[in-house]
Amino acid sequence: MKKISLIGAGNIGTILAYDISRKNLGDIVLIDKVDGLAEGKCLDLSQSLAVDEIDLSIKGSTDISNIKDSDAIIITAGIPRKPGMSRDDLIETNFKVMESIGEAIKKYSPKSFVICVTNPLDAMVWSLKKITGLKKNMILGMAGILDSARFKFFLSKLLNISISNIDTMVLGGHGDTMVPLLDYTTISGIPLNEYIKSNNINEKEIKKIVERTRKGGGEIVSLMKNSSAFFSPAVSAIEMLESFLKNQRKILPCSAYLDGEYNIKGLCVGVPVCIGSNGIENIIELNLTKNEESQFKKSVLAVDELIKKCKKLLV
Ligand code: APR
Repeated sequence: MKKISLIGAGNIGTILAYDISRKNLGDIVLIDKVDGLAEGKCLDLSQSLAVDEIDLSIKGSTDISNIKDSDAIIITAGIPRKPGMSRDDLIETNFKVMESIGEAIKKYSPKSFVICVTNPLDAMVWSLKKITGLKKNMILGMAGILDSARFKFFLSKLLNISISNIDTMVLGGHGDTMVPLLDYTTISGIPLNEYIKSNNINEKEIKKIVERTRKGGGEIVSLMKNSSAFFSPAVSAIEMLESFLKNQRKILPCSAYLDGEYNIKGLCVGVPVCIGSNGIENIIELNLTKNEESQFKKSVLAVDELIKKCKKLLV
């Protein structure tokens, strides 16, 4: 059995534990700093597995040393945003959380594959990489799959087409500057731009969708007020986890440490990566249009500003 540790037993951590157990992906360790929270949830979840006749070990604890020798770790610990906040407003609080968790990963499980979900995403992935010393192929952030899923959902509603016919990719930082790639969006293989022309779809409607995608997380926060999205972030992280555990070699947009790719060195930002049993098998470099390239550069600059803040917090 693989060992999967989930750090953070809040909204996203709970859905992760539920879904991972139902998919029987491995034994689960759930960690939260709140006394009894992870333990109680794990006891409840284990009892629910008895109904579905699934044999798995699920352990909840406040003691992070239980992550020892995990195959994979997903981090959702930290605070989510409240209405009116941007992801970037979480930086100081969540950086401290990454510092303590990063030290624990370095000590107890330095060879695991780590997926970060905590925001501001790209800056947290960068900080974790720095603190843990993990190899660049073993740490990723979950953002692009979620952003692409939102874009896909809005497009499927606008075009009145099955979501399964839409293929798309959102790159860049996980914030308002993210870049939905219209030129890499297809409807059952038909390039989106051709599709909208032949079906008389107003381009303004597509622009609105791009904007709604960029602000998709905030829209949910303003509706729920006391929490941010949790179903879609959880299943997006599980798609990355499964590709690693089962060596599926899926190409997925994720926040990865760039070491010269896209002419960027030393930053974490959303790009397409192939995930297999070695973690990141390779990073795919796309040819972007001039417009997309300038949007991508703007997004990278926004991420760079946040990473600079983390660098200051590190010393
Ligand atoms: N160690 C362990 N658990 C911690 C720590 C820590 N140092 N700090 C905070 N936590 C726990 C909290 O006790 C809480 O149970 O992390 C959990 C976070 O859960 P929620 O508040 O429900 O947040 P969630 O919706 O799961 O989002 C978590 O993911 O998408 C991002 O922006 C989101 O940064 C946020 C993160």
